[in-house]
Amino acid sequence: MPLEKELEKEIEIKGIPKYIPELIAEECRTKISDAVRDLLHRSGMKKISISVGNEDDGTQPQRKPKQKQGDGVGDEVSIEQRAEQYRSREPLFGFDFLVVPDDLKETLLSAVDLVLVEETVFDKWNLRSIEPFPRAALNFHGNPGTGKTLAAHAISAYLKKPILMASYAQIESKYVGDGSKNVEAVFYAAERDGAVLLIDEADSLLSRRLTDVNQGAEQAINSMRSQLLICLENYKGVAVFSTNLVQNYDRGFETRMRHIFFPMPDEAVRQKIWANHLPPQLPLAADVSIESLARVDDVCGRDIKNAVIDAALRAARSRKTRIEMGDLVEAVQRLKSGRIKRL
Ligand SMILES: Nc1ncnc2c1ncn2[C@@H]1O[C@H](COP(=O)(O)OP(=O)(O)OP(=O)(O)O)[C@@H](O)[C@H]1O
Ligand SMILES: [Mg+2]
Repeated sequence: MPLEKELEKEIEIKGIPKYIPELIAEECRTKISDAVRDLLHRSGMKKISISVGNEDDGTQPQRKPKQKQGDGVGDEVSIEQRAEQYRSREPLFGFDFLVVPDDLKETLLSAVDLVLVEETVFDKWNLRSIEPFPRAALNFHGNPGTGKTLAAHAISAYLKKPILMASYAQIESKYVGDGSKNVEAVFYAAERDGAVLLIDEADSLLSRRLTDVNQGAEQAINSMRSQLLICLENYKGVAVFSTNLVQNYDRGFETRMRHIFFPMPDEAVRQKIWANHLPPQLPLAADVSIESLARVDDVCGRDIKNAVIDAALRAARSRKTRIEMGDLVEAVQRLKSGRIKRL
């Protein structure tokens, strides 16, 4: 059996708690199985045994097991220790790579300019006396693959700061009370590193707090949301949240954040995105026309990136020396028709 098929049979991801929205759970499963495949591919190993999540049915957070005495680790880890799991990195992209409509770019720049003028306005002009914690909390929302993560990188690069990325999955915990401590630790880590904080897949975190709480799992989410509000209030820096869909914003977040919508790219934007994704070293045949490629609609930036990679890999595998227009068009069509149909 080919390795791909064999893997599909073998990789089983269980234990994603039921209270996690299906959209996030699905993404989580995809990301984990992609990572396993990638690991196998790069390491040359044939098999790998990974277990993810709870052994129970995942509906209830559990009490953390008490650590044995004398094992050198206290039951309560300090916030510094907890924050060790969150590390920042240098941003990978700048504003030159991000293609968005001009007004969106302006909005992004003006939102972060606050940080650049903070010292003048809040220290020199002492507006800190009326606002001790000036902050720039942004919520990027929009379809997948429209440049939200990329924009967070661009902001970091613009501010010459590292970026600290944490997804909801890395913050929530199956243990009671741990999720909210992780929220605190993420903010602590961002301040420690002087980083732009990006919280990905933040949909569940930003939704309205539940009022009728009778399940441990719901309480856990509520306490994470409350902790997030406290942290935002005290945080000195840029925090970016990225969401695909928030049905019910919690009022607390709705008013404290600047909401920035990332649209699907139109033809003019697609043209520039295609151009950015075709580096000069890529051997393109003379028939490749960026204008024609950009006419294919209903594709986001990530589709363009994936289509270019797919076309190049296929061309290289079949020992072609040039990538032709047909290769790119087929790759983008393949991608469109392979999409999971969502209602
Ligand atoms: N507006 C854009 N300009 C340039 N490239 C883009 C744009 N949008 C997407 N891309 C390309 O697609 C890749 C993935 O985009 P990104 O990760 O920013 O999407 P996202 O909006 O964060 O998606 P998700 O909601 O799934 O997290 C980028 O690294 C880039 O190559
Ligand atoms: Mg993203």
